[in-house]
Amino acid sequence: MVIRPARTEDDPLVHYGLIASADRLMKDAQVRDHLAQTEDVLCFEMEAAGLMDHFPCLVIRGICDYSDTHKNDLWQGYAAATAAAYAKELLSVVTQKEITRFITEESFSVGFSLSEVSETERFVARQEELADIHKTLSSHGTRRTVVLHGLGGIGKTQLAVAYAKRHRSDYSAIFWLNSNDEDSLKQSFAKVARRILQEHPSASLPSADNQSVSLDEIVNGVKRWLDHPKNTRWLLVYDNYDNPKLPGTAAHTAVGIRRFLPEAHHGSVLITTRSAQVKIGPRIRVGKLDNVKDSIEILSNTSGRGNLMDGELCSAGIDVVLIRL
Ligand SMILES: Nc1ncnc2c1ncn2[C@@H]1O[C@H](COP(=O)(O)OP(=O)(O)O)[C@@H](O)[C@H]1O
Ligand SMILES: [Mg+2]
Repeated sequence: MVIRPARTEDDPLVHYGLIASADRLMKDAQVRDHLAQTEDVLCFEMEAAGLMDHFPCLVIRGICDYSDTHKNDLWQGYAAATAAAYAKELLSVVTQKEITRFITEESFSVGFSLSEVSETERFVARQEELADIHKTLSSHGTRRTVVLHGLGGIGKTQLAVAYAKRHRSDYSAIFWLNSNDEDSLKQSFAKVARRILQEHPSASLPSADNQSVSLDEIVNGVKRWLDHPKNTRWLLVYDNYDNPKLPGTAAHTAVGIRRFLPEAHHGSVLITTRSAQVKIGPRIRVGKLDNVKDSIEILSNTSGRGNLMDGELCSAGIDVVLIRL
């Protein structure tokens, strides 16, 4: 039996954190402690299990026992009354408008993931460009677009990754679209559709796993989802749009990006391209790094040759141009 010191006061304690929901009672102290540690779980309950999958909600529970073999219902009534009092208090300060806004935003939010792109271990420099992108994508009103253009290997993709990571909380969803060619772009849309459906099974989207659904239908379905008038806080990154279809170009491998862009005048679009001809929105030229030390640091990281800063490169004063190694 664990001896627990008596509490010195009678006031209820409010805990904020994750509640684990399950379909059976938690009575094992070891499992309890393991889950608490690995999943950062505060407590366990059974009633709300399943509800969260269908309805975004806040669960308020009164705690009356320790989730181990010393289960004791003696304090159940007190715990229930405390939770009810807390819920009432909370509703008196949260407005209905806030709740409606939260529920709407929730139904379009998709967890952050950069699994589509390989990210450098240590991002250096480019603070000015990051601020420029942020400024342009923060303007109010209509669709916000930025085109990052510059030589291959200069660092456009990594800049877009750094932007997405830094500002992830500004967006309800961020999707990475490989725009190298039309097929990759369509496959990226299919992955986006899967991710949306995983988190929102009731979203009106064709399933990418259904063989009879064409990739074009999936692209259009995702575009419709992004066009929804209440779904306004997404960011789409069209990465490596290096082969744009331009007036006068005949190449059949060229990508016409417009039919892959959502139509509604909301959301944000970030395009990276080697071409200086993409004029879909304000452009930011990504150039050579001003400071040779930054270039050398990247070179050190990518070559795996430790710290080149003290070595020959610096003493020789070589102007290192950043190219893919
Ligand atoms: N700011 C940066 N910090 C660290 N490494 C970088 C940075 N920019 C580029 N790199 C390195 O250079 C490589 C090429 O950059 P990338 O962003 O893919 O170029 P681009 O998209 O312009 O072709 C990356 O894989 C990364 O190793
Ligand atoms: Mg790139």
